[in-house]
Amino acid sequence: MLGASRYLSLDEDLRERIREANVAVHRFEAKYYELVHPEVYNRYEQKRINSTLKMVDKLVADNRERSKKALDVGAGTGNLTGKLLQMGYEVTATDISVEMCKILEKKYKNYLESKRLIVINSPIEYVNFDKDEFDLITCYSVLHHLPDYVDALQRLSGFLKKGGVMYLDHEISPFYWKNESSNVARLVKLIYFHSNPLLNTLCFMIMGVNVPSFDYSLSDYWHKKEHPLDHKKIRCVFERENYEFFERVDYHLRGTWFLNPIFYLYTYFCRPETSFWVAKK
Ligand SMILES: C[S@@+](CC[C@H](N)C(=O)[O-])C[C@H]1O[C@@H](n2cnc3c(N)ncnc32)[C@H](O)[C@@H]1O
Repeated sequence: MLGASRYLSLDEDLRERIREANVAVHRFEAKYYELVHPEVYNRYEQKRINSTLKMVDKLVADNRERSKKALDVGAGTGNLTGKLLQMGYEVTATDISVEMCKILEKKYKNYLESKRLIVINSPIEYVNFDKDEFDLITCYSVLHHLPDYVDALQRLSGFLKKGGVMYLDHEISPFYWKNESSNVARLVKLIYFHSNPLLNTLCFMIMGVNVPSFDYSLSDYWHKKEHPLDHKKIRCVFERENYEFFERVDYHLRGTWFLNPIFYLYTYFCRPETSFWVAKK
């Protein structure tokens, strides 16, 4: 059932263990998900996603005879799915975690009932759609969880119609694990990366919330220094599939609920640590 081509050289045993680790971690994380991810749910990041999605939507070739169809891969509790539904898309949301899918279904029950939302609980590697089925495919904070994100992107490209758009977001930039060139920048990055979790812990203490810790060691496989996500491989998919255009944009991510004042120093001295891609087929 998996795509015939293997772009990343992990053996099948490790691939399966990565998928199992994702099922396990998201089983427990699901009910805390929006609380433990201030880097996703803080208001600045939410605003940035909304405006990026508007820009992406303008690029999708318009087909006036029907609503546009979006596939949200690794939809989680519906961060992007909800926004796409509000923008008028018919959405298919897929996720490997049954707990995530259940929360998403509960949140968007009305859309499920009106058949504007379909939820599929499956690893994306095993899901099949018609060729050219979707106008838009979104993938926010998911690629680094997939054992073979290159193969997955290659397959997903087949489900995207000509004139459609692929939007991949919230992945580490090529600079995430790289040392900054000056001592000041290195120090600022160190302080920023360490102060964010401290501020978030402080926030939880003030709110009186007891958040368990989660083991992301295998689930976030391509987020690690030894094997970070390779943007050149992503670019190659868009080239191979003859996309009309594609672009990677790097940005500085706010990692806390309330603004960390170091953030301004961080944006001034350091290179952005997060990236998104927009590609039009
Ligand atoms: C960090 S969360 C992102 C969720 C959501 N996209 C968001 O914006 O909040 C990653 C999601 O990818 C899902 N996932 C991990 N591996 C997957 C796979 N092989 N196929 C489908 N979904 C997967 C996880 O269950 C989880 O919900």
